[in-house]
Amino acid sequence: MTLKGRHLLDPSDFSLEELSEIFELADSIINDPASFSEKCKGKILATLFYEPSTRTRFSFEAAMLRLGGQVIGFSEPSSSSVAKGESIADTIRTIACYADIAVMRNPKEGAPRIASMYASIPVINAGDGGHQHPTQTLADLLTIRSVKHSLDNLTIGCCGDLKFGRTIHSLIKALGRYKNNAFVLVSPKELQVPEYILNEVLNKGQLPFKQVEKLEEVISELDILYMTRVQKERFFNEEDYIRLKDSYILDNEKMKHARPDMIVLHPLPRVNEIAYEVDDDPRAFYFQQAKFGMFVRMALILKLLGVE
Ligand code: NCD
Repeated sequence: MTLKGRHLLDPSDFSLEELSEIFELADSIINDPASFSEKCKGKILATLFYEPSTRTRFSFEAAMLRLGGQVIGFSEPSSSSVAKGESIADTIRTIACYADIAVMRNPKEGAPRIASMYASIPVINAGDGGHQHPTQTLADLLTIRSVKHSLDNLTIGCCGDLKFGRTIHSLIKALGRYKNNAFVLVSPKELQVPEYILNEVLNKGQLPFKQVEKLEEVISELDILYMTRVQKERFFNEEDYIRLKDSYILDNEKMKHARPDMIVLHPLPRVNEIAYEVDDDPRAFYFQQAKFGMFVRMALILKLLGVE
């Protein structure tokens, strides 16, 4: 099966072979970006963002522009007919008349899937509520693959808001499909991974994992430390957010106990969960990760449009 014309809504939509095709294409783009600069000439990408974004929207837009294509879209629903009460089904059917591929971020879980059911063009989920964020995961996997040279045999620490953090849900789902990976889930009790990740992904897949509350106790075991921000916008009350927001702060003192080859990832934006002093540590990879995100999105666009 080819990736042409497909949607990306969930990290398990593509087989491991298809994922490695995307990563290999991303590698070729990184090695020779100039030879891809006109591949999408005449094609249009639509970005439909119903929630704030910096990296995801800009990296998709930059990706399409670097492929020689063009971009239309909105970065807040108030500037489109959504504000007049238009449904997702109608918005996407209209957008499909103008664009060749669409990227959607929406606070409602499942919204991009609804869009895909009405779309005659590929739809990419750029984050749906506290659910999934499969293209962030592509960026994460490309980074890990480039730095660690493998996606197998890793101990991955996920730290912070594992309940509402959609990047974590997608990352566990994706890395759980590779060989011999183990997860160390570090969070306050209130922010542990949702039941469906626990039951349908970790337990069902018989993936080795443990849940702990203290980062200090486990940091020395990790190959990867994936930090996340506490997702303020998904809390029901301010009080809980204030109580939990400073649960973890990664600083140089904690980094002293980490392995020399551990890498620190973060989908960004960071609030205060990684002290700025850590940025100078050679194990901090979060800004490179943002760059890998653009290259992997270039590869994804090419594959879904069937441009070789
Ligand atoms: C993440 C998201 O939107 O879920 N950001 C991103 O896309 N890089 C993480 C976050 O907002 O905390």
